Amino acid sequence: MVLLGKLAIVTGAGSGIGRATCRILARDGAKVIAADRNLRAAEQTVKDIGNDRAFALELDVSSLESVSKGVTSSIEHFKQPPSIVVNAAGITRDGYLLKLTEKDYDDVYKVNLKGTFLMTQQFARAMIEHHVRNGSIINISSIVARISNPGQANYAATKAGVISLTEIAAKEFGKFGIRVNSILPGFIDTPMVDVIPEQIKEEIFRRCPMGRLGRPEEVADVIAFLACEKSSYVNGAAIEVTGGLK
Ligand SMILES: NC(=O)c1ccc[n+]([C@@H]2O[C@H](COP(=O)([O-])OP(=O)(O)OC[C@H]3O[C@@H](n4cnc5c(N)ncnc54)[C@H](O)[C@@H]3O)[C@@H](O)[C@H]2O)c1
Repeated sequence: MVLLGKLAIVTGAGSGIGRATCRILARDGAKVIAADRNLRAAEQTVKDIGNDRAFALELDVSSLESVSKGVTSSIEHFKQPPSIVVNAAGITRDGYLLKLTEKDYDDVYKVNLKGTFLMTQQFARAMIEHHVRNGSIINISSIVARISNPGQANYAATKAGVISLTEIAAKEFGKFGIRVNSILPGFIDTPMVDVIPEQIKEEIFRRCPMGRLGRPEEVADVIAFLACEKSSYVNGAAIEVTGGLK
């Protein structure tokens, strides 16, 4: 129960890695705000965990208004802002550069990079104002930021941006006792990956030394490590959870 007494907010909590993270943080003793643009999906996550340990919140990370309402309602409900923030909301809109539409570029940017910025800024500000100590912000980037898949220019650019944003936030927030780290998952078995054509999945298996997709819980366990005091000197890091895929 390394997270007993802690309050966490997880975005993208209605599916995949976000949902698994809610489950594992609650298992480790934290109270969890399961935030998602899809409220029904977040409610299902809470149902799985139990109402006494989790709370569903409708939140669109791409909107400053929605994120700042999320800060207010977290404080109203729990009398303090969360000290653990996991930014797992993310989308893909894949397409080769010459065909990529402006909308698909903007939509991915707004959720993945601007959303991470808004969540980081608004929740860090609340932690500082409420004198929360030992804060931990965990941003979900992707190994795609490093392996630069053709057809994912919009997605890869946002995920590379998440690594830079994380490194700078770590430098700026260290003095407030807030650590900021990013995780670069490889290919994880979630609805996001379901849409990848079979032939590309086989290529991924060939390139991955573990020869399989990761499970959402295998990412969530690393998130739980970064959330707790066992990682008290890990700051500004970008941790790969890929089964060795390069
Ligand atoms: N699955 C993978 O292989 C993989 C690999 C690397 C990185 N990632 C990253 O991990 C994170 C989680 O991915 P996943 O595979 O669990 O995806 P998923 O599609 O299963 O879940 C994403 C969740 O984010 C929510 N969401 C989307 N837009 C939102 C918004 N504007 N505000 C709030 N919530 C929003 C969705 O409703 C959904 O519940 C994403 O950032 C993704 O880019 C995933």
